[in-house]
Amino acid sequence: MPFSDWLLVGTLLALGGSWNVIRADGGSERNCSAIPPYLPSTVVNTTLRLQALREAMSSVNVSAYIIPGTDAHLSEYIAPRDARMAFMTGFTGSAGTAVVTLNKAVLWTDSRYWVQAERQMDCNWELEKDVNAYSICCVCDPCRMYHCIMVVLSNPIETYESYSYNLVPAKLMLKSIPDNLVDRVWTDRPLIPPDNLIQRTWQKKVEHIRIQMTDNPYKPTAVLLSALDETAWLFNLRGNDIPYNPFFYSYTLLTLNEIWLFVHKDRVTEDLKLYLNSTCFPLAHCVQLLEYEQVRVMLKDYMTTSGVKVWIGTEYTNYALYELITPEKLLTSAYSPVLTTKAVKDETEQRILRDAHVRDAVAVIQLLMWLEKVVPEGKETEMTAAYYVNDKQKDSRGPSFETISASGPNAALAHYSPSNATSRKLTVDEMYLVDSGGQYLDGTTDITRTVHWGIPTDMQKVQVALWGVNMEMLGRRALWEVGLNYGHGTGHGVGNYFGVHDWPVGFQGNNIPFREGMFTSIEPGYYKENDFGIRIEDVVVIVPAHTKYGHNYLTFETVSLVPYDRKLIDTSLMSPQQLQWLDNYYLTIRELMGAELDRQGLTEEKTWMLKHTVPFQSATASAAVSSLTVSLRSACA
Ligand SMILES: *[C@@H]1O[C@H](CO)[C@@H](O)[C@H](O)[C@H]1NC(C)=O
Ligand SMILES: *[C@@H]1O[C@H](CO)[C@@H](O)[C@H](O)[C@H]1NC(C)=O
Ligand SMILES: *[C@@H]1O[C@H](CO)[C@@H](O)[C@H](O)[C@H]1NC(C)=O
Ligand SMILES: *[C@@H]1O[C@H](CO)[C@@H](O)[C@H](O)[C@H]1NC(C)=O
Ligand SMILES: *[C@@H]1O[C@H](CO)[C@@H](O)[C@H](O)[C@H]1NC(C)=O
Repeated sequence: MPFSDWLLVGTLLALGGSWNVIRADGGSERNCSAIPPYLPSTVVNTTLRLQALREAMSSVNVSAYIIPGTDAHLSEYIAPRDARMAFMTGFTGSAGTAVVTLNKAVLWTDSRYWVQAERQMDCNWELEKDVNAYSICCVCDPCRMYHCIMVVLSNPIETYESYSYNLVPAKLMLKSIPDNLVDRVWTDRPLIPPDNLIQRTWQKKVEHIRIQMTDNPYKPTAVLLSALDETAWLFNLRGNDIPYNPFFYSYTLLTLNEIWLFVHKDRVTEDLKLYLNSTCFPLAHCVQLLEYEQVRVMLKDYMTTSGVKVWIGTEYTNYALYELITPEKLLTSAYSPVLTTKAVKDETEQRILRDAHVRDAVAVIQLLMWLEKVVPEGKETEMTAAYYVNDKQKDSRGPSFETISASGPNAALAHYSPSNATSRKLTVDEMYLVDSGGQYLDGTTDITRTVHWGIPTDMQKVQVALWGVNMEMLGRRALWEVGLNYGHGTGHGVGNYFGVHDWPVGFQGNNIPFREGMFTSIEPGYYKENDFGIRIEDVVVIVPAHTKYGHNYLTFETVSLVPYDRKLIDTSLMSPQQLQWLDNYYLTIRELMGAELDRQGLTEEKTWMLKHTVPFQSATASAAVSSLTVSLRSACA
């Protein structure tokens, strides 16, 4: 994807994924022929806004007004403030065109959205199923006297011209007016998200890193950023140069007074230049663009200045750059201050990352529900299951890694992904493991569930029960206690639309200590060669623990929201505390996913979710959650 497709995070955060959420109540559609008309609670009353728009139309002498579903940039995803069609009609689908005349209002959308439109529009609106929108002005009843108008900025030139051409026979004239009439009547139109919506603008981030430089006893004068996620994070930018990771080729040399950004300059749009240069006074907040290939030359040049010291993170700096820095001008740490700062999510980042997990859980619940139904028919394979979940995560920017969809012995290979050659048929006789994740604009997800559609062996159940409720690192300990282990990391960080392995958060020796606001996966597994594989993976956020006496203790709160396979949980092997933990977790799933599934009108999914989250023990058992958490002393204590 070219740079023009870069999206500033300021905008991304505002979208938050809510723009195409289907709002519906239990699948009920309006009935305008009933007396009085039947309207589900999901419809929007558009009477007053239509009245206001018609007044605005009359004031400029037009008889019909065309409201396209996109924005002035023809964006695929539009900001809430550009959802003019949704505001006027109530219909929030991502495709459509609305036309308002002085006594009619009609929406065109394609068949994917007909049901949704019937659930969201009140009876002021007609739904037109004829895709040929040229007929638009046939609905313009008193068209003769007036002009038909559209906001020319919001539609491709070609569409405008074809509308115009097709209106000629009806003796109608298409007129472009610069002022958007919907905006005139949309009194509480959302604002452009102020940059402080992301609590950290890139300027703030730069300041923050510079403070760490001046506070450092070794007095570095510059930080060299080599990892792609460092530059992406610092400037709140994303690209598409790397499969699965929304990064772009870049380096940054951040000094106390200057910011040098090395990118392929021809890909930088004017908008982006403005974004990077909007705060050139003081000059220390001015981004100097240099060609990507110039980083060595520039660094070499910088090294000739006396008194400089360059701070690098050794884990992500390549040798070609490292060798240019003379030892007395070098300051190293495993990770640059950017990576350690990025690891702790601020309040907004935490909230939207949790939101992304809610939407992702819908996709995984749909997959598990579907498999439960179709596997016994014997037609599905690892590949078709992978396609299914990839497709379900479609409101995302694609998978965050190649989906691991593995059954039977294939699942014993921890990093197996199916191909046509290896794909096994899914059957009720084998365990199935699915590890999938999406790149949502607000966050990256990663979740693994292991299921069995038939009768699991005791061995399989024992493994799951041992760490099935894998809170904390008890996971590995439980396996160690019976002499088993797994050959991969226990977990890795995840971020806001970043790589699915968002270092340096995790459980390895070279990871940084946990702090409040970090997100990590926890993914213990058990792999029995040539037989089966089990992994359960959840993403958790590190939060303060409410312990009886302790202060500065932290614990994990699970943000993945998909129930485990009940069949694989042998409750006789679990302590009452573990069961209580599980019940509390399921309560959270019921609460959060119940609301989301309602909002999306997914009744079958909701029933499935409720069935799979029935409490394991009676609700009377006291919830002593805090005593169950393995507390970690806060790194910042
Ligand atoms: C709408 O209401 C009318 C009048 O009550 C009824 O005859 C018709 O069956 C209803 N349509 C639907 C789709 O429910
Ligand atoms: C819609 O709003 C108008 C104006 O407030 C009101 O008169 C009308 O009854 C409402 N319609 C419905 C169906 O609630
Ligand atoms: C609308 O039409 C009236 C009557 O022809 C005219 O006086 C007025 O100037 C027109 N307004 C605009 C904005 O064109
Ligand atoms: C920003 O402005 C400075 C000073 O005018 C200029 O040198 C630099 O190239 C500009 N950077 C961008 C990204 O346009
Ligand atoms: C796998 O098989 C499917 C269905 O036959 C086919 O469409 C697809 O191109 C194949 N993929 C590869 C990588 O061969």
